[in-house]
Amino acid sequence: TKAVGVGLLGFGTVGSGVVEIIQRHQNELQHKVGCPVEVKKILVRDVNKQRKVEVNRSILTEVASDVIYDPEVDIIVEVMGGIEDTKLQLIEALNQKKHVVTANKDLMALHGAELLKVAAENQCDLFYEASVAGGIPILKGLSDGLSADRITKMMGIVNGTTNYILTKMTQEGSSYEEVLSQAQELGFAESDPTADVEGLDAARKMAILATLGFSVKVQLDDVSVRGISSVSDADLHYSHQLGYTMKLIGLAQRDEDRIEVSVQPTLLPHHHPLSSVHNEYNAVYVYGEAVGETMFYGPGAGSLPTATAAMSDLVQVIRNMRLGVNGKTVQEPLHERVLKEDKE
Ligand code: NAP
Ligand code: HSE
Repeated sequence: TKAVGVGLLGFGTVGSGVVEIIQRHQNELQHKVGCPVEVKKILVRDVNKQRKVEVNRSILTEVASDVIYDPEVDIIVEVMGGIEDTKLQLIEALNQKKHVVTANKDLMALHGAELLKVAAENQCDLFYEASVAGGIPILKGLSDGLSADRITKMMGIVNGTTNYILTKMTQEGSSYEEVLSQAQELGFAESDPTADVEGLDAARKMAILATLGFSVKVQLDDVSVRGISSVSDADLHYSHQLGYTMKLIGLAQRDEDRIEVSVQPTLLPHHHPLSSVHNEYNAVYVYGEAVGETMFYGPGAGSLPTATAAMSDLVQVIRNMRLGVNGKTVQEPLHERVLKEDKE
């Protein structure tokens, strides 16, 4: 059977995880999708850089169009980050009838609606499971598992870097600067970690979760945000002694005519389930009117966990290709709904 060709935009923490899984799990993947999966081209900034995962040097390029226009590439996996240029490249790819998988929450929180529209117009898939909560299948949980329910509340830890920092500062007394640089070395932090520590990364994820969970477009500007950069060692020490654990908590809730989305440092009693979510792990509590309380938990950042989420999208795209249903499996037009229609 003919191989499905994959083109990567980016070969860093997440991209190398994607290639590693394609290499290591090739038999498993073939069994699941019914054909070989081959990486044909990879866009990087510097082709001469030392790489964590070995690939044939000839497939590396510094020119985006080499990947986007490669006739052997059926699916683009965008794992490089960036917003405006990346958006234009993905639109170009979709217009070339390439399906897209992305881990980019910055892009999806700002331009997800437009990109999904372009994908639908081209009968292409655009999936973004890896953009929220790393290896936890939370987007599929909301859009598949809980699709028949009415979700009213989501609350949780959706940023691995800040959870890692708060955990190490509280448990080991490490300094903020020291643990932030560890989180960067471990590949959890964004290229500019300001987005992590100021709560913007979590806000972007909460906007995506609220849009999907409540089926109403929630803009990033609608999210009230406060990060952890002003949390001191003393705040953590004394609150811990008083029986509380500090966590950066994302909250999205709705009632009949209002949606509220926020991200802020929050004191939780030690016995609260979210207090025992440590290091880069994430957890999201979801309340649905029919299902009741559910909790999604797992690694929220890092190479292989995040790559697993991107790979699950890749598997779905290939299955859709084989069934001829690409562009038809995302519930649309989610992004066009507004709250008042929801009430009618
Ligand atoms: P990273 O380690 O910094 O890797 C970025 C890769 O993209 C590098 O290979 C880099 O090339 C390439 N790249 C960046 N800008 C480029 C440009 N303008 N032209 C060509 N190549 C470019 O980043 P990452 O941690 O893998 O994150 C990638 C994306 O996944 C981001 O959107 C991030 O928010 C998201 N994400 C990350 C995680 C995580 O745990 N790290 C989890 C979930 C989602 P060089 O290697 O040559 O520098
Ligand atoms: N920087 C992000 C985090 C990566 O720490 O959660 C995962 O989205």
